[in-house]
Amino acid sequence: MEEMIKTLPQHTCAWGKVKAYKYQEFWTVKPFLEATILAQQSFKAEPSDVFLCSAPKTGTTWLKSLAFAIVTREKFDESTTPLLTKFAHECVPLLEKAQVVERENIRKNFNLPLISTHLRYASLPESVFSSNCKIVYIYRNIKDVIVSHYHFLREGLKLSMEDAPFEGAFEEFCQGISGYGPYWDHVLGYWKASLERPEKILLLKYEDLKSEPKSNVKRLADFIGCPFSVDEEKAGVVDNIIRLCSFENMSNLDVNKTGKLNGSMFENRFYYRKAKVGDWKNYFTKEMEERIDKLTDEKFNGTSLLLK
Ligand code: A3P
Repeated sequence: MEEMIKTLPQHTCAWGKVKAYKYQEFWTVKPFLEATILAQQSFKAEPSDVFLCSAPKTGTTWLKSLAFAIVTREKFDESTTPLLTKFAHECVPLLEKAQVVERENIRKNFNLPLISTHLRYASLPESVFSSNCKIVYIYRNIKDVIVSHYHFLREGLKLSMEDAPFEGAFEEFCQGISGYGPYWDHVLGYWKASLERPEKILLLKYEDLKSEPKSNVKRLADFIGCPFSVDEEKAGVVDNIIRLCSFENMSNLDVNKTGKLNGSMFENRFYYRKAKVGDWKNYFTKEMEERIDKLTDEKFNGTSLLLK
């Protein structure tokens, strides 16, 4: 593997602090790359698995909390759920990071079918396709993703905004150099697949989840195969899950304010920043806005997707 990795295109990014590798048309860093290759070689998806897929900073943490709360709601309520004391990324493991053992433990502990990944659709392990398991994909306005990505990386690297200018992050993102980027291709891959296999792939948009949480959480539950009954709806179960997983609630829990995953450079609180739609307006110049819109129009011409 070491020899193969040496042959890949490389780029030093994030203000000269991070070495990224281009593998199968996407950019990532070495630990995730190694784990990706292992997962592609050995991960055995089961037909009952539900993959939660996303490019980083598009709402992964939120989707994980919601899906976890939905599938465990008979076991736990909003006062006993592990989401109160465990980071969402511990409740639903990341394919290209979790050790197989960890995944197995999680399956055993919660008897859960949920696994997440940032991989592009075309790079998912073959067993994800052959098992025909379900996939939920969340995506988000590209400009807010750029800003979210910027702060996440900057904080992980412990750099101030002066030491890590936004312009550099913007430029790299435009060149496609972002976690699992180019972002456009990431979204397009899942979008195309969802048209071909609509019964197996559900697309959710971060902004829709924000503006219409109830209908989208119900869509998610239906798709996962855990629909809410009429009695549950009457009893307020959907509203409770939405409240439990809300940014306001999650970002104020101790585990999310002070915790950190073992060995990670990212503190849990970095995953909960502002959660605002349109925060990009505080960072983009007119030129940046025009440039990203033009790039997005070129890439998304002829699709029904709105990333702007
Ligand atoms: P901002 O940086 O714009 O605040 P990911 O989970 O894919 O890493 O994405 C992180 C983004 O989702 C951050 O966006 C974060 O604040 C937002 N987020 C995290 N939890 C959320 C929640 N429960 N509801 C809405 N947004 C959430």
